[in-house]
Amino acid sequence: MNLKSKIVFAAVVAALSIGAANAAPMVVKFSHVVAEGTPKGQAALKFKELAEKMLPGKVQVQVFPSSQLFGDAKEMEAVLLGDVQFIAPSLSKFSRYTKKLQVFDLPFLFDDIEAVDKFQHSADGKALLNSMTSKGIKGLGYWHNGMKQLSTDKDQLKRPDDVKGLKFRIQASDVLEAQFRAVGSNPQKMAFSEVYQALQTGVVDGQENTWSNIYSQKFYEVQKTIAQTNHGVIDYMVITNAKWWDGLPADIRKGLEQAMDEATAYGNGIANEFNERDRKRILEAGKAKIQVLSKDDVGAWRKAMEPVWKKFEGEIGKELIQSALKANK
Ligand code: LMR
Repeated sequence: MNLKSKIVFAAVVAALSIGAANAAPMVVKFSHVVAEGTPKGQAALKFKELAEKMLPGKVQVQVFPSSQLFGDAKEMEAVLLGDVQFIAPSLSKFSRYTKKLQVFDLPFLFDDIEAVDKFQHSADGKALLNSMTSKGIKGLGYWHNGMKQLSTDKDQLKRPDDVKGLKFRIQASDVLEAQFRAVGSNPQKMAFSEVYQALQTGVVDGQENTWSNIYSQKFYEVQKTIAQTNHGVIDYMVITNAKWWDGLPADIRKGLEQAMDEATAYGNGIANEFNERDRKRILEAGKAKIQVLSKDDVGAWRKAMEPVWKKFEGEIGKELIQSALKANK
């Protein structure tokens, strides 16, 4: 190398290293529909904290709660279009991409969140994370919220007869639609961000949700009775665009994967506690009353909703339902 080439070489090396040092971090967006003070809200923030710690200067995670960036209607398309990198929809919202996840919506299938967790960690549960790869969606993990309770603007909510003819907001799920029809109510699919107003103005009479969502969305302020039914579950799948994920530099993918695993463990560890805390807060607020049901009452709901299982057995698969049932003690 003569002197001139040496100088040019040194300049190129210097320019490249300055470029590398100044390279802006990759910005990835995480959008969700709930409040920050919920299990999902906290898990998303934990993911940001860990990802930025594990990939310093390489990745910046922006978290958008409360449907600020995308609500229920648009978030899946946004992932496929690359407008957002991570979302964590409720398992009830995937039926356009797979029918298998409908198993989580079958009423009274899981005894409690421990059973849900056990099924998610089984071979069949893990396989569901990849049930949408042909549609371009990759599941990175399951996040817990908790068991669902039923609420209405009426005084009595003990037996299936108490909801006859009432209008209920539901998530976009055919199973949930059938569940409410089975007890003689009128279900209406609606985005999460619209529920409070619909309850307040009487567009619907009731809804079903977890304690943490009922508290953080203030549904308890516009409902008279919340029945402790634990009749189903609201859990989430964190998803990303499969092509984008597979195309990431290996070190970044590895860091994000690790951050996701740790955030998942963190969020799933606090979910029960958050729901219990919010149940107490609702009780203390003294606005809606909490109706605790007897074994007999719960049995009546279970029996009334039972036909839903048969209706969806074909789409979900008998074996998968049996496999989920095995997770109960
Ligand atoms: C709902 O729509 O009620 C829930 O799925 C919202 C959520 O993400 O917890």
